[in-house]
Amino acid sequence: MTILEMQKEILRLKKQRNILVLAHSYQRREVVEVADYTGDSYALARYVQNATAENVVMCGVRFMAETVKILSPEKKVYLSHAEAGCPMAEQLDPELLISLKQQYPSAAVAAYINTTAELKTLCDVCVTSSSAERILSKLPQKEILFIPDINLGRYIESKLPEKKFHFIQGGCPTHVRATAQDVARMRELHPDALFLVHPECRFEVVQKADYVGSTSGIMDYAKQSAATEFIIGTDNSIAEHLQYECPQKKFYPLSKDLVCHNMKLTTLPDVLNCCAGEGEEIMLSEEVRLAAKKCIDRMIELGG
Ligand code: 13P
Ligand code: SF4
Repeated sequence: MTILEMQKEILRLKKQRNILVLAHSYQRREVVEVADYTGDSYALARYVQNATAENVVMCGVRFMAETVKILSPEKKVYLSHAEAGCPMAEQLDPELLISLKQQYPSAAVAAYINTTAELKTLCDVCVTSSSAERILSKLPQKEILFIPDINLGRYIESKLPEKKFHFIQGGCPTHVRATAQDVARMRELHPDALFLVHPECRFEVVQKADYVGSTSGIMDYAKQSAATEFIIGTDNSIAEHLQYECPQKKFYPLSKDLVCHNMKLTTLPDVLNCCAGEGEEIMLSEEVRLAAKKCIDRMIELGG
């Protein structure tokens, strides 16, 4: 089958089986084209709340499909590729988190949404890259135990000096590959370009940016900006999507190594198989779902 034939079959199955296809912004171009909605982690979580479809195919990584199931237990939720997980989501064992909570008893426990459902059951609030500053600034506690991404944590700490943060040594194995030397090299090659970065990058990289934001934040900023050249400091799919959407502008990946291999596992044939009912359905016990839902509900309440 050609890409076009496959896309047509996916559109037919979506209609026939009442399927909503959601895609994270890092998905391949041909996958994004068949999705009903594409966005960052926060937008995907918000979107699903008002969706009426019986079935959801999440083209992204496992914690994103779990978030959909947590918020919409009545829907059948499928993960586009069973092996697509976010390594950061599993960096912290629940037992270690329990002992950290004992070490910092007066701290609110804030989980980046890139965590397993099980870890979320032990946290007070969830945040995403686009909502962390807003949400954490509204917490009554002065102390915050932020898990697992120390890079996002350090960036938010710099924005909220009134809070006292505790971190663990977690982080994204993709974004950590970008270095301050990459920034210097790309700035020299493209002196007129603005540098847009995701806060999962190392703090010394983030500090050199003209704009820091989520995947959707970076895309919106580049589209609306009067500038015409941009260095993109996140998974290279974002530079590619932007180049399609704004052909008159120029987008340069910060580093060739900024590729999330988990996000790239999902292919168009995977989406077709999922729509045909062959994908992995996400199952969560009601006990885990309800306990994890508390911190996602808090995120939505404080995130607006
Ligand atoms: P966003 O919420 O910015 O889409 O980030 C999710 C993610 O995993 C980025 O690596
Ligand atoms: Fe996880 Fe990093 Fe991939 Fe995002 S880019 S899904 S944080 S491994």
